Amino acid sequence: MDAIRIYGGNCLKGQTTIQGSKNASLPILAATLLINGVCEIDNCPEISDVYHMLRLLTSLGCRVERKGTCVRVNTCGLSVCDMPSDSVGVMRSSIMLLGALLARTGRVCMEYPGGCVIGARPIDLHLQSLRKMGVVIEEREAEFCAEVSRLKGAVFRLPLVSVGVTENLVLAAVLAEGTTVIEPAAKEPEIQALCGFLQKAGARIEGSGTQRLVIHGVRTLKPVRYRVPADRIVAGTYLCACMCAGGRIFLKDAPVCHMESVLSHATRMGAAVVCEPDGIVVDGKEHECTCNRLTTGCYPMFPTDMQSPVMAVMAASAQRGCIEETVFENRFRIVAELNKMGANIMVRGNTAYINGSGRLCGAIVQAQELRGGAALVIAALAAEGTSIVTNRHYIDRGYEDIVLNLRELGADVELA
Ligand code: EPZ
Repeated sequence: MDAIRIYGGNCLKGQTTIQGSKNASLPILAATLLINGVCEIDNCPEISDVYHMLRLLTSLGCRVERKGTCVRVNTCGLSVCDMPSDSVGVMRSSIMLLGALLARTGRVCMEYPGGCVIGARPIDLHLQSLRKMGVVIEEREAEFCAEVSRLKGAVFRLPLVSVGVTENLVLAAVLAEGTTVIEPAAKEPEIQALCGFLQKAGARIEGSGTQRLVIHGVRTLKPVRYRVPADRIVAGTYLCACMCAGGRIFLKDAPVCHMESVLSHATRMGAAVVCEPDGIVVDGKEHECTCNRLTTGCYPMFPTDMQSPVMAVMAASAQRGCIEETVFENRFRIVAELNKMGANIMVRGNTAYINGSGRLCGAIVQAQELRGGAALVIAALAAEGTSIVTNRHYIDRGYEDIVLNLRELGADVELA
C-alpha cells in the first residue's frame, strides 16, 4: 500500500544524518544545462523530485548517472528542447529548466506545469520576465513555446519575492548579453547554493543572499564538481518530530546557519537546541512553551515549508497558538486531517487557530502534498494508538526515507 503505519508513544533518541537539499539540488541540476561537459553534484538526495528532474535531463539528450548521492550530468549530447509532458506534469519545478534551456538552445516547448493543492502557483512572472530578456513566447491551450536568438540582460523590479522566478532569471542571465539586475531577489539558502555553483563554473554574480542580485553575462561556463548543502526543511521536520514525540536526538549535518528562524521558534515552543560544529542536539520537550504565534514569510523569516510540521507540534501540545501563512493561499490542507486525530484547529482567512488538546488519537489520515504529509507522520508519533498516513508518494518527493530515519530514532513506524 502507498501508506505509512505509525504506533505513537515512543520517545526519540539517537542520531539521523540530514540529506542534501531538494530545493538546492533541482535548480543546480537545471544549471548543468548551461555547461557543455560533465558536472558532478555531490550530496544530491535520492528523492522522487530529483528522479523526475534527472529523467527530464535524460529526455533532453543528457547522460545522467548516479553513484550513491553523487550525480554526474553530461550535457554534450543535449539535442531536444521539447520537454516530455509526463515529467513536466508530475513536477512543477520543471519550470526552472526554462531559463537554462533558452540560454543553451534558444528554444523550449513545454506544457504548463500544474499548480498543486497549496496554491495556484502561476508562472506569469516567469514568462513576463523572460519576454523582457527578448524571449518570444507563443502561448497555446495547454503548452507554450519560447524562442530567443540570444538572451539580453535587463533590470527587473519584481512585484513580489519569488524563489522560482529569481532562479529562472539567474539561469537566463549568466550567459546573456549585458547585465541583469534582479530586485527584490529571493535570498533563500537554495538560491545562494545555485549562485555558488554558477560562480564556481565562471559566472559573474554579485549580491548572492541579498535582495539585489547583479549578473554580468559571460560567454561560457566550465564543468564543475559541487556539493549541495544539507536540507534545512528536512532538518526542521525531524526537529519537529522530536518536539512531538519527546526525547533527545542529534541532527547530523543540519545546516545550522540556514535555520535561525526555525531554531529560535522551536526554543520558544519548548525545545532545547544546542548547535554543534557538525549538527544540532535537540531535546524535544525541555521547557514550557513561551510563544506560539507564527507568521511565515520569505527568507530569513520563518519558512512556509516548515508551517505544517510546526502545526503538528502545536496540535500535539496542550498550548493554544496561531499560524499566519503569507506565501501560499491554500497551505492549511492538513487541518482537517489533524482534526481527525483529535486536534482542535480552526481556519479563518490565512490564519489557523490551534487549540492544542495535548492528546491526539491515532486515525487514518491522507497526505495531500509533501510537507503536510510529513507533518501528519510526525503528529502520529505523539498520538495514542495506531495511525495510517496514506498517499506516501507525496512524502517521497522530498524525504529520502522518512520511515527508516524515524525507526532508527526509535519510532514504531513501518511501510503499510
Ligand atoms: C519554491 O517554490 C519552493 N520549491 C517551495 O518549496 C517553497 O515553498 C517556495 O519556493 C517558497 O519558499 C522549490 O524550490 C522547488 P515562489 P516556488 O515562486 O518557487 C507566487 C517544498 O515543499 N508566484 O517563491 O514555486 C506564488 O504563487 C516546496 O519543497 C506568482 O504569483 O515559490 C507564491 O504565492 C513547496 N507568479 C509566491 O509567488 C509567478 O510567476 C511565492 O512563490 C511565480 C510565483
